[in-house]
This record gives sequence, structure tokens and C-alpha cells, in this order.
Amino acid sequence: MEVNKIVKTTPQENPAPHDTPPGGPPTRARARATPLRNSARNKKGSSKPGPASKVDEQATPAGFAEGVLRLSLYPWQKEVMNNLAPIYSRVALVAANGSGKTSNVIAPALVWHMVCFEESLSVVTASVYRQVESVLWPAIKALLRPFGDMVEVTSGEIRFKHASGRISRILGFTAGNDNESAGRAEGFHAANHESAPLLYVVDEAKTVQDPIYVSVFRCQPTRLLVASSPGAPVGQFYRCFTKEADLWKKTRATAWDCPHISPLYIQEIQQRYGINSPFTQSMLKAEFMDLGEERLVVSLGSYDNCVNNPPVPNGTDRAAGIDFSAGGDENVIAIREGNRILPLITWRERDTMATVGRIIMELKKAGVKPEQVFADAGGLGLPMCDALNEAGWTVNRINFGGNARDNDAYQNKGSEMWHRLARKIDTCDIILPEDDILKSQIVTRRAQATSRGKLGLESKDAMRSRGVASPDRADAVAMACDNAGIDYDLTMAYTRPSLLELMKQASADNEMSGWDVGG
Ligand SMILES: Nc1ncnc2c1ncn2[C@@H]1O[C@H](COP(=O)(O)OP(=O)(O)O)[C@@H](O)[C@H]1O
Ligand SMILES: [Mg+2]
Repeated sequence: MEVNKIVKTTPQENPAPHDTPPGGPPTRARARATPLRNSARNKKGSSKPGPASKVDEQATPAGFAEGVLRLSLYPWQKEVMNNLAPIYSRVALVAANGSGKTSNVIAPALVWHMVCFEESLSVVTASVYRQVESVLWPAIKALLRPFGDMVEVTSGEIRFKHASGRISRILGFTAGNDNESAGRAEGFHAANHESAPLLYVVDEAKTVQDPIYVSVFRCQPTRLLVASSPGAPVGQFYRCFTKEADLWKKTRATAWDCPHISPLYIQEIQQRYGINSPFTQSMLKAEFMDLGEERLVVSLGSYDNCVNNPPVPNGTDRAAGIDFSAGGDENVIAIREGNRILPLITWRERDTMATVGRIIMELKKAGVKPEQVFADAGGLGLPMCDALNEAGWTVNRINFGGNARDNDAYQNKGSEMWHRLARKIDTCDIILPEDDILKSQIVTRRAQATSRGKLGLESKDAMRSRGVASPDRADAVAMACDNAGIDYDLTMAYTRPSLLELMKQASADNEMSGWDVGG
């Protein structure tokens, strides 16, 4: 990188065309940016300038990213960057997880702005500190490495000293949900939209709350970019693609638009969460998780289909899920043997010690060991787990409100267990007992999406208020299927070899020589 040549080129040497009428199409900003005209020469060590079209290309943000920063961008990444070129651009990007928003759009856009506008200010924010400090900053730093000591990096600020002595800056901060954050997001202004512009970027835009956007808009940035994977259908980021769609230049990038996302990964996501799951649609197709008001975790049709088309009984491992009664409710023990849920054991009992005695008796009868037991440890469950413990039964304690194992997909442990049970039912991978109460409990619970785009569950309070009973039996079944991390069926799908592969392997082992396995 020929840094000297870069800094010699200034906006003055490169005047804006004056034929654009004021208020006309805001393309002047593009011409005012300092295009790094000489870098086209560097490619093959030739000292001649590149062809004219190459030079023009480098005057665009995407051209800069490719020609100077040496990134190779996908078409949608170029589109987003170039949408940012005009003054007063409002650009929104919704893209699949891991598509390259931060590293290949936001970071190069910030560097473009800092390097090409000598007195510019770029402000970038996300709702979590980690995103700014350990994801974005390293990505920007990597792009700036060739600029050597023209760049000065501190934890919240990057400064670029141009040859003219002028300084441009990138500021990064976390916009949490507190009042202080909204204050911090304010007070930035472009000294001059053409020569000293303000670029404002909101990363992980779905998690940034509306009051922060109010502060951002108040700054009247010269350019504004909001980018995120999709979340729930609420908030400013969602409005960019719906109510306010005509105000924004929008881009949607799916996993299929990203060659670095492998077909195998796409297939795994589809298998794990279901091809039609709102989570899959959001992860891969970059669609907002619009679950509607009444979307159920398990539909009646899906439940009946599973009951009518059960899998062959498979596996002998055992696990038990226990849901303790609160007051007059039922105690429920669900025992799973392989892929089969045995008829549920339920009874009502107010006396704690009598309940503990009965539980131990039932577990022994079923041949289940303490480490195979998963019990609801929330609320009343906690003293019950303690009592079991005192009686020598140290069972696994499940906290429905605690962290999910797959923390990206599910709001909490309870949501994870329910949605995974739903998946097993959708794919007819579980044998359910004939039990109308269990059925009614499973098919009435509604699904929800959190603002961060995770799958959640309707709360028990909300269920109660619409007159639906506490789903104790369903909870016990969900716990019996969860197995604290050991998936008894889903992992099979990826590793199970095909018949052809088995036969090939066998013939390679010479065990079945003489069999023709074809190609
Ligand atoms: N144009 C591209 N060419 C090659 N790899 C890319 C490209 N765009 C993104 N990637 C890769 O995608 C991965 C995820 O990028 P990241 O910016 O963290 O995604 P996001 O912010 O969308 O979650 C990175 O490893 C990055 O190198
Ligand atoms: Mg990112």
C-alpha cells in the first residue's frame, strides 16, 4: 500500500462537479470523497494508472473496500456500501447470522469514511460492549494495518492523521437500555455534510432500543447505516423494512447469498430447528420472526400426525422428568425409554414427605437412577429437590428460566426444552402416550419471539389469564426428553452413513468382497 500517494490526494485536488443543482440528487458527496486513484496501479506492480473505469470504481465505497482495503465483497455487500455514498443516505441491512455484516460491510464502510473524508467523524454503536470492543474494533484495526502510524487506536476511538495534518475519527460506544446511553448517543454533528461529514452506524440494530434511535436521528447524520440479523417484528429496525420502508435503502442477504456459509451448515440448521421454523427463517432467510399472536409451539395437526405415525421403538436408555405439584396440582413423572414416553405417572398429594416417598418408589419401580432424573427446581420444586437430596436422591435440577444450552436460539431453558420437544413431534421422532390431558397441554402453549430473535414461550401467567391450565404433564415430558445435553436422536441425522457408504466401507474392509456397490 502506497500510503504517501494516498494522503497526497486531497479533496482540493479533486473538486466536486459544480453542475449538480442544490437539492438535486445527492451524488456530490461521492465526488468529494478522496478516491485513492493511485492504488489501482499497485495491483500488478505497474506504474501506469489503471483504466479509467477502475479509477471511477475506486471512488465508490465498495471500490475503495476492494481496491484499497483488498477485500473481496459479495454483490450485496457492495450494494450496501455504495448505498452509503450519497449525502443523507439512510441505509438498512438485514442479513443472515454470520453473513459478514460487521467484518465486510460495517468495518470497511467506517474505514472508507475515515480515510476519504479528512475531517469526518464516524460513530458506531451496538447494544453490547462485546460487539464494539471485541468484534468490530479488531475488524477495523485489521483493515487499518497497512496505514501504519497514520492510525492511532484507543479503546473507544480511532484517529486517522491525514498528510494535511487534518484528523478524522471513528468513535465506538455501547448503547445499552439505560438513559445514560441515549444521552451518549446524542451530541454528534457534521461540521459540514460535504467536507466534514458524520457517518452513524448501528450494529446489531435489532437489539438497540428505540430511545437510542431517537438520539441518533437527532444528530442528523450525513449518512446512516443500520445493520443486523432480524429479530422480532417490533422496534425501529423492523420499521425500516416495513412502515418506513420508503425512507430507507434496504438490502436483505440470505445465507445463500454468502458463499462462505456452507450448504452443510444450512442443512444442519434446517434439520435442527425445522425448515419452516421461524428461527430457521430468521437465521437463513433473514426474515423477521413474526410469530403472530396465536402461533402454537406444537400445532394440533402436528401432534396428531406424530401420534398416528409413530417411529419404531428405538433405544433403551432411560430418563425421568418430574414436575412437582404446587398446592392442589398434580405431581407428574414422565419416564422415557429410548424414543418412547411411557404412560405418565400422576397423582395429587399435599404432604411433602409423602410425595418424596412416592417419587422414590416410582423411580425405583421404573429402574431409573438419580442421575437420569430431571426435576423442575423452580419455585416449590427447589425444596422438593432438597428433600429428594436428603433422601439420597441427588437428581438433576432444571431451571426453566435459566440459560439454554443453545443460547443463540432459545430465550431460556424452558423454551429450549419445549421447542426441541416440538421438533421431535413435528418430525414424528417420539412415541407419545395416549393421554388427552398431555395432548391438550402441549397443543395450547403459544410460542413467542424475543426482541433479540430468540424463540421463547408464552408465560404461565399469560396462559393462566386466558384460562389455560398449567402444563405440568408437558413440562415433565419435555424434561424427560431433554436429557441435559445428550440428544438421543438429533445428532444421528448428521452422522448416520447412507447404505451405499456402509456397503462401500464394508467392501473396503474386504468383508463383503464380491458385492458390487457401483460408483
Ligand atoms: N465477502 C466475503 N468473503 C469471504 N468471507 C466473508 C465475506 N463476507 C463475510 N465473510 C466471513 O463471514 C464471517 C462472519 O463475518 P461477520 O462480519 O462476523 O458476520 P456478521 O456480522 O454478519 O455476523 C467472517 O469469518 C468473514 O470472514
Ligand atoms: Mg456482526
